[in-house]
Formats: sequence, structure tokens, C-alpha cells
Amino acid sequence: MTYDKLRRRERSQPAQKMANVHRGKLLTLALIVLLSVSDVACGHRTSSREQLEANGKDVGDDPATSVRREKVKDAMLHAWTSYEKYAWGFDQLQPQTMNGVDSFGGLGVTIVDALDTLFIMGLDEQFKRARDWVATSLNFNKNYNASVFETTIRMVGGLVSGYDLSGDKVFLEKATDIADRLLPAWNTPSGINYNSINLVTGHAHNYPSANGNSILAEVGTTQLEFIALSQRTNQPKYQEKVEKVIEVLHKNFPADGLLPVYINPRTGKPSPSFITFGALGDSFYEYLLKVWIQGNKTQAVNVYRKMWETSVSGLQSLVRKSTPSGYAYICEKNRNTLINQMNELACFASGMLALGSSGFDPQKAQMILSLAEEIGKTCYNFYQITNTKLAGEDYLFTAGKDMSADSLYNLMRPETVESLFYLWRFTGNKMYQDWGWDIFKAFEKNSRLETGYVGLTNVNTGAKDNLMQSFFLAETLKYLYLLFSPTSVIPLDEWVFNTEAHPLKIVSR
Ligand SMILES: *[C@@H]1O[C@H](CO)[C@@H](O)[C@H](O)[C@H]1NC(C)=O
Ligand SMILES: *[C@@H]1O[C@H](CO)[C@@H](O)[C@H](O)[C@H]1NC(C)=O
Repeated sequence: MTYDKLRRRERSQPAQKMANVHRGKLLTLALIVLLSVSDVACGHRTSSREQLEANGKDVGDDPATSVRREKVKDAMLHAWTSYEKYAWGFDQLQPQTMNGVDSFGGLGVTIVDALDTLFIMGLDEQFKRARDWVATSLNFNKNYNASVFETTIRMVGGLVSGYDLSGDKVFLEKATDIADRLLPAWNTPSGINYNSINLVTGHAHNYPSANGNSILAEVGTTQLEFIALSQRTNQPKYQEKVEKVIEVLHKNFPADGLLPVYINPRTGKPSPSFITFGALGDSFYEYLLKVWIQGNKTQAVNVYRKMWETSVSGLQSLVRKSTPSGYAYICEKNRNTLINQMNELACFASGMLALGSSGFDPQKAQMILSLAEEIGKTCYNFYQITNTKLAGEDYLFTAGKDMSADSLYNLMRPETVESLFYLWRFTGNKMYQDWGWDIFKAFEKNSRLETGYVGLTNVNTGAKDNLMQSFFLAETLKYLYLLFSPTSVIPLDEWVFNTEAHPLKIVSR
């Protein structure tokens, strides 16, 4: 069977439509039989260009891939069941001590973060219990200084996504409640928001550790969620606040598109500080691209694409190759000095480049996609060079010695499997599924306990910590699941993921 026929056939299958995918087990089985015959043929006929165009439509599934998908679903069920058993209603589970911990003010963050993953995987009973908890027990009236950024990406993002997937209005009501509590953080002289706000008093401030500055990644990573909320509630106030931030940053945007990580909330100007695609910088660049996608790439969001393209040229100026093996990596920059260091967090950039590549002319698109693949390979190697095959938090690059892990802990972060998901979607190369499977196996081997999943304090000895991060359920397991699912599950021309992997529906502006 040719690739084209296969694609048409799958497209006509109602079971392959996103929300129905888990309700069509029989059809899925039929597809597996059908696909196993054609698997080899379509795997090799698919060029990356064809894939680029086919993205968001359906490409093949096969028995081995669906077995992997089921294993990831089992992992989610184990993580969720452990949380339900030992930490229900708390923000996160501590698997070793078998109790809950309120790391975010007691907002049941794991429940909200996991909502859409449960929905997408077809864990219907679990989703129902989570939904009922949100309806009856989720209470934002907490005398707690919340991080505007964390609360936005996990709570507003998780709730709006839950609404987009299920249509249940309770999620939108709750999202509005928490967004209204966050909104006073934007009342600053420049419109650049503060990092922290008290959920009861509305008193907002910046962290002393940042010398009173706002943080680039924090002020530049609320736009998707608040714009989505305005679109769904017809209340422009959310969108106005977050777009003003980009307006101010646009006024002070440097020629290479690289902003230092500290922004003065009084003047709106950058304060002397370093430049990075890792911690404190990262998702600002991601959201420039994704707001453009969320706005369906229309004129109204053109400025975001322009800013993003400028920052990509800046990113390219930070790329160096290791010796002797030639791994591409993204340096940090302090004033005019490049620093040969890359956080695992910066591995998101590979997926971002793949996602944004198709907006360039064909030649440049191919070049950017190649760069995405090179960085993805480096990030996969972050995992492969440790004893546990799980990445450390930070890597140093040294002439003649390629790379070495610097910070040795692993929080079960998603950035590398996220990028493997995008690379697979945009190239069709099954190697990326195999790489993701290697990483999944390493989590199963090192992070899985009877009572949940934990991070590692040392990726070489395998010593464990005592926390199941909510983003493991929201992001890591979701991207792995999607890596082994047909491309029609959350097609990228209809959905855009926020930085916590919550898919938001694309609505034209
Ligand atoms: C919130 O932050 C303010 C300003 O730093 C501080 O005075 C207050 O005690 C904090 N409140 C809580 C509940 O931690
Ligand atoms: C986005 O734009 C495309 C054409 O460029 C159009 O076909 C599609 O319907 C639009 N999507 C939405 C959600 O408006």
C-alpha cells in the first residue's frame, strides 16, 4: 500500500480522531493488522518534506509502536494511582515517604496538571475523579505567594486545556478564578509583571534573588494561556495584560533577538544579566513562536513570528560544535563571552526549531530542521553518557572531550522527549521513537518505585530523591505517549502545546 492510500484510509477512520482515539479499540486493532503489512514500505518512502506537509494528518501506526504506547499508559496509570493513594489533593506526591506535599500553595497541582494526559490516554474513570475534585474541592483562596509563571502554566494552562478537550465549563470557571487572582501582578509602571503574587491579598512583588527584577522566561510565558482565556470568555482583560508585555519587550528588542534574563519592571528595559535558552530564558522564545501558531499565523500575530525569527538568528550565533565528535550545542552568553554550557532545559529548543521550521522558505526550513535534529542528537546523548542513561541537569563542553554532566540530578524533565516528539512528527524518522523508548526504559528502571516515580539525585549512582514532579505526568509521559501514537492524536495544525504540555485549541484571531 502506498503512503498516500494509507494516509487517506486513516484519515477516514473516525477512531483516529483525537478525542475518540481511546474509544475505538476495535478499529485501532483493525488498523494495526492493516498497517503491519504496509509498515516497511511507508516507513522508507516518506521524505521529510512530505512529512512536513502531512503533519497533523495521519501517518502509520504499527504493533510494536502500540505496545510501547500501552507501556507508557501503564506508567501513567501507576503514577496517577500512587498519587491518588498517598497524596490525593496535595500538590505533589513524595513516593519514598508515601505522603503529599504542597509545593505550590495547596492547589492540587498534580490533579490539574494530569487532567489532559488522563483524557488523551482514555483513562476515563481517573479523569472523572479528577474533574469532580476540581469541581468540588479546588480552592484558590490561599494566603500564599504564588509564582505567576508556575501558576499560569500549570493551573490556567491545565484548566483551559481540560476545557478545550472535554468541553466541561467547570474548567473554564476555575481558570477564570485563578487568572483573576493573578491579574494584579501586571499592575506595574511598565506593564512587565511581577513574579509573585499573594492569592488572597493580591499583593505582588519580585524575588530578592533577582534584585527586584522580573524574569524573562516568567513574563514571556503567560501569553498563550491568557490569550486563550480571553478568546474563550470574551473578556479582553487577560489578553491585554500579557500582550502589553510583548509590546514592551519589542520596544527594547536587540538586533540579535536575544534578551538578557532580567527585566526591570519599572522601566521595561533589560538589566545587565546573561543570555540563555536554558533556565530563566527558555520559554520566552518558545512562546514567541507558539503565540503566532495559536493565532493561526494571521496578520494580527505577525510581530511574534518576526521576533521569533530574529531570536532564531541569535540562537544560531550561539551554536558551537563539540570536539572531537561534533555535537551541536547552544552556548550561554555573558556580555560578549560565550559560555560552553547547556542546560537539559534548553533541549526544548530542538523541538521549537522543528515546529517553527515550516514557516521559512523551503531551503531555510530544511536548514533549521537539520539544526533541530543536530541539537536533538546532542540531547539524546546527554542521556546516553550517564550510568543510568538519564540526563543530568546541566552539561559542560570541553575542547577534545565533548560533553560532561555538571549538575548530576534528574527531575524526570520532559524537554528531550518533547523534542523527540516534534522531530518524529516533522521528519517521520522512527529513530526518534527508538530514542524516546530508550529514555522511557531508563525511567522505568531507575525512577519507578512501588509507590510512584522519583527523580534521581545522582544520574551515575542512581540515588533517588523523594518527589514525583507533576510535570512528569503533565509533560514527560504525555509526550512519550504521543511519540508512540498516530499523528492524528493532537494534530499540530489544530492544537498548540503550552510550555507545560497542555494542548490548547488553535482559534483564529
Ligand atoms: C508574601 O510576600 C510578602 C513580601 O515579600 C511578605 O511580606 C509576606 O509575608 C509573604 N506572605 C506569605 C504568606 O508568605
Ligand atoms: C487557520 O487558517 C487556515 C488557512 O490558512 C484555515 O483553513 C483554518 O480554517 C484556520 N483555522 C482556524 C481555527 O481558524
